[in-house]
Amino acid sequence: RKPLSLPRLREMHAHGEKITMLTAYDATFAAVADAAGVECILVGDSLGMVCQGLSSTVGVTLETMRYHTECVTRGLRRSQGVAWVIGDLPFGTYHESKEQALRSAVVLMQAGAHMVKLEGGGWTTETVRFLVERGIPVCAHLGLTPQTVHALGGYRVQGKTDESAALLRREASALQDAGASMLVLEMVPAALAAEVTQQLTHCATIGIGAGSGTAGQVLVLHDMLGMNLGKMARFVHNFMDGAPSVRGAMEAYVRAVKNVSFPDNSIHAW
Ligand code: KIV
Ligand code: NA
Repeated sequence: RKPLSLPRLREMHAHGEKITMLTAYDATFAAVADAAGVECILVGDSLGMVCQGLSSTVGVTLETMRYHTECVTRGLRRSQGVAWVIGDLPFGTYHESKEQALRSAVVLMQAGAHMVKLEGGGWTTETVRFLVERGIPVCAHLGLTPQTVHALGGYRVQGKTDESAALLRREASALQDAGASMLVLEMVPAALAAEVTQQLTHCATIGIGAGSGTAGQVLVLHDMLGMNLGKMARFVHNFMDGAPSVRGAMEAYVRAVKNVSFPDNSIHAW
């Protein structure tokens, strides 16, 4: 297998081949996901909740993200993995200025990330352009942006009104124009996510709770393994169901995303 690269991901997007992404936070899970055929590994700041026991991602620091990014990339190196690694910029580490964002992105890139992810639209556009011009691939993130949970008033579906849907479409276009090559769409109506996907010709949408019309899918590792003590979000599927192993569950996830049997648009979050 050849290492995933931006040109390869662009080719998949152009050919309509679904892109698979899972979160991982340590060496072993990253290596197993890679071996299962997952193309992109997101070292998500969701680790604040699933690894650190925080009640939101707001408290995650850059040092924590650096540490876990390093664990993941070390695991992939040791297992000769080919996955594309995305490091999540945590709350407060890209908000001050584009220069601050660059400094934070450099920390994750030097820890082995191939791309950084940041949340939000509008004000982030300039930051995205600044990073991309300097050779740092960027994944944007719109819809439910967990770092702003307190401003949003909870983990709820976004883009339900005509006004908020129009804003999301405009922000998505601006992020593409700024050079973002991927865009996570979290908890938005499937029809809106599909529209944005069609509208973006050189930025691949990656959905979570956004229906099956996106260019790819992402899930939080612990969710897709059914390791959830609270109530599970409706859009999540437990891939351990009927799977012989964690690797088997990940392989089932990859298959389901590729053949568009996951997500099932009749079971949705909105
Ligand atoms: O941190 C994370 O896991 C994420 C995904 C849910 C997209 O941002
Ligand atoms: Na995140």
